Amino acid sequence: MKLLHIGDVVGAAGSRFLQEHLPAIKRTHKIDMIVVNGENSAQGNGITKHSMEQIFSAGADVITTGNHCFKRREAMAIYENPVVLRPANYPGCPGHGVCTIDFGPCQVAVLNLSGTAYLDPLDNPFTIAEQLLEEIDTPNILVDFHAEATAEKKAMGYFLAGRVTAVVGTHTHVQTADETILSEHTGYITDVGMTGPEESILGVAVQPAMDRFRFHYPTRFTEGSDPCFLNGVIVTFDEKCGKCTKIERLIVR
Ligand code: FE2
Repeated sequence: MKLLHIGDVVGAAGSRFLQEHLPAIKRTHKIDMIVVNGENSAQGNGITKHSMEQIFSAGADVITTGNHCFKRREAMAIYENPVVLRPANYPGCPGHGVCTIDFGPCQVAVLNLSGTAYLDPLDNPFTIAEQLLEEIDTPNILVDFHAEATAEKKAMGYFLAGRVTAVVGTHTHVQTADETILSEHTGYITDVGMTGPEESILGVAVQPAMDRFRFHYPTRFTEGSDPCFLNGVIVTFDEKCGKCTKIERLIVR
């Protein structure tokens, strides 16, 4: 089975690019399931009902998020949808951090977690992962670990090695070149990257983001614009045992 995970979709341009290109990518690579990180998919940032609908209409089966999951007021209602996830280690918030998609003969679970290094002090993602693995009733498990620190992401990869199908990092918006298979079972990449304006600073227009670093005065961030690119990883796995057999990076311009 082939699962495509797409890194953080950024803004209106990123959402539009996803809608334009995802159907063809799905056909060309014979993808069975698509997971998209949509936490920055709204114009501005965060996720809205509109950007959620754009991602689903592009072909996503599950939307994951991260530290911007509750950025927009309307997002509270979005998480009533069982396949729109917020990190499972948010304490006592609306919504779910895990879901299972039923493909008939097999099921695939998606678990969304947030790191806590240089991010909000949420519940411990390692403890929550361990608890949830007890409850998930399929060997096919994709973990989207939305985290800032490379070391925390690598630690999660080794922590879950041999126990889940793949651990993919999100949040930094820069795709890393360290895709590998841990313990001959678990696909891993530190960061999948982003989908949105390529000539930008992590999706934000260059000038205001650069000025904030240069002058240290408040600047109003605006979205970058076309041309866009899409960053993802394709995880091929044996759905009978959940073992990843191949993990490949994907960049579409
Ligand atoms: Fe993030």
